[in-house]
Amino acid sequence: MDLERIKQVGIAAACNGGKVLQEHYGNLRSVQRKGAIDLVTEADLRSEAVIIETIAKTFPDHTILAEESGTKKGDNNQWIIDPLDGTTNFTHNLPLFCVSIAFTLNDEILAGFVLAPLLDELFVGIKDQGAQLNGEPITVSGTRELTDSLLVTGFPYDHPTIFNELIARFGKCLSASQGVRRLGSAALDLCYVANGRFDGFWEQNLNPWDTAAGFLVAKEAGARITVFSGAPYSIDDNEIVGTNGAIHDELLNLLEI
Ligand code: IPD
Ligand code: CA
Ligand code: CA
Repeated sequence: MDLERIKQVGIAAACNGGKVLQEHYGNLRSVQRKGAIDLVTEADLRSEAVIIETIAKTFPDHTILAEESGTKKGDNNQWIIDPLDGTTNFTHNLPLFCVSIAFTLNDEILAGFVLAPLLDELFVGIKDQGAQLNGEPITVSGTRELTDSLLVTGFPYDHPTIFNELIARFGKCLSASQGVRRLGSAALDLCYVANGRFDGFWEQNLNPWDTAAGFLVAKEAGARITVFSGAPYSIDDNEIVGTNGAIHDELLNLLEI
């Protein structure tokens, strides 16, 4: 597998999606509902279309798994696409959102691309080659204790189904840390663990397009990433815990309810 070629195409696809998001930002014509609070806009749909088009030009046989259009079955090379992670922020003109694209071979994540177009930040992780923000190497924080940690989490759209456990975990982490943030983009949450802005992140009920790219960026930056039981994370898992490593066991203990 030519990871250099994957990197070029992944970055080009993320940039093309990012341009579309920039065009629509502050300028939306329609916001539809996929669920009670789960939104989709013309920006999500157009971003996804240009990302897929960019990838398919070079790799017409690869499989596509995209949030809005689903699966287009191809070979065992796969692109996992979230064309706009942080749609709710986007619809409220809050610039914390991104394009998130991962590349997998036989379900192993080999590359991750996360672009926050309004913040002008591109995170890239390539398996065994490290992680970068705008071309500069990044690493996780050196924070040793949970009491000194800034954490981040998210609340899934179906939060009523897990409300009590969600709030119980949130409360325990809030009491034990320096603070807990909720930014609204799981992909950025993971990238911000990667470059040390946050010391740890956890969330439940996610999809592969929310986590796959950020997972590799964070992992390549030195993060430890598991599910709540401590078992390694894989793209089939719908929950994730990512930390700088040092606070991981302490955070896992807190998440036990
Ligand atoms: C959502 C964001 C949010 C997380 C939700 C996701 P979307 O993705 O990542 O931070 O809390 O669970 O569904 O819908 O904005 O692509
Ligand atoms: Ca998402
Ligand atoms: Ca999305």
